[in-house]
Amino acid sequence: MNVLMITGASSGIGLAIAQRFSNNGWRVINISRRSCPVAAVNLSCDLTQPDALFAHHDALTNALTTATKICLVHNAAVMHLHRIDQLPSADLRSVLELNIIAANQLNQIVIPLLPPTSSVIYIGSTLAEKAVPGVASYVIAKHALVGMMRATCQDFAGRGIHTCMICPGFTNTPQLHAVIGDNADMLTGIKALSAFERLIEPEEIAATVAFAATAPVLNGAVIHANLGQRER
Ligand SMILES: NC(=O)c1ccc[n+]([C@@H]2O[C@H](COP(=O)([O-])OP(=O)(O)OC[C@H]3O[C@@H](n4cnc5c(N)ncnc54)[C@H](OP(=O)(O)O)[C@@H]3O)[C@@H](O)[C@H]2O)c1
Repeated sequence: MNVLMITGASSGIGLAIAQRFSNNGWRVINISRRSCPVAAVNLSCDLTQPDALFAHHDALTNALTTATKICLVHNAAVMHLHRIDQLPSADLRSVLELNIIAANQLNQIVIPLLPPTSSVIYIGSTLAEKAVPGVASYVIAKHALVGMMRATCQDFAGRGIHTCMICPGFTNTPQLHAVIGDNADMLTGIKALSAFERLIEPEEIAATVAFAATAPVLNGAVIHANLGQRER
């Protein structure tokens, strides 16, 4: 049985990924605070809480016992608005706990169980390889996640598993709309940054992840899925 294990499939891109894999016959296991409607198993977990995943260790491993192929997707994230000189350490710690430490803990539990042809896919961002003002903790976390993906590639060479990072551009999800609010000018400006002058739909990112899960040639790759961004 093919199994998708994903963080943050209650909403947005994660939900679209879960739906895509479920439609393709994969069993979906979701980890987030709210549940995912298409998941066979929902493990309710606040990933900002240190060691939160270890409470689910047995449920996580039991859910994978019959898997012949696993795709592990590190997707859950938040974007907070802080400049680097006004970034509270508590906020940075919480963002790193969710984006980096939780991904590391999940890797500790799941990677030893991955059969050959499995994959570990990290959801990055355009901001994994560049910065813009005012979202310092997000930029820091996404850059660190690139390093985790590259270390995954190097440390598991020869295991028959592959890893990559998919970096969405501006995607039509609750996270993006939480940042934009009802600022129509900001939305227009964001669309204008795209070479296609529109937002990406979550299903487009899900299709890219589904392809990456079947493509070991992408091992260690950072893949920008952003419609082409105009640089200012
Ligand atoms: N939307 C964009 O424009 C965009 C652009 C580039 C990259 N991305 C990346 O795409 C990924 C998905 O983003 P999205 O836009 O789909 O966001 P979203 O709709 O806000 O979904 C975020 C997901 O993360 C989960 N999550 C957040 N905090 C959590 C916590 N403390 N514990 C457990 N789960 C938590 C949420 O689940 P619960 O709230 O149920 O816990 C939710 O399922 C993220 O990695 C994001 O950085 C998005």
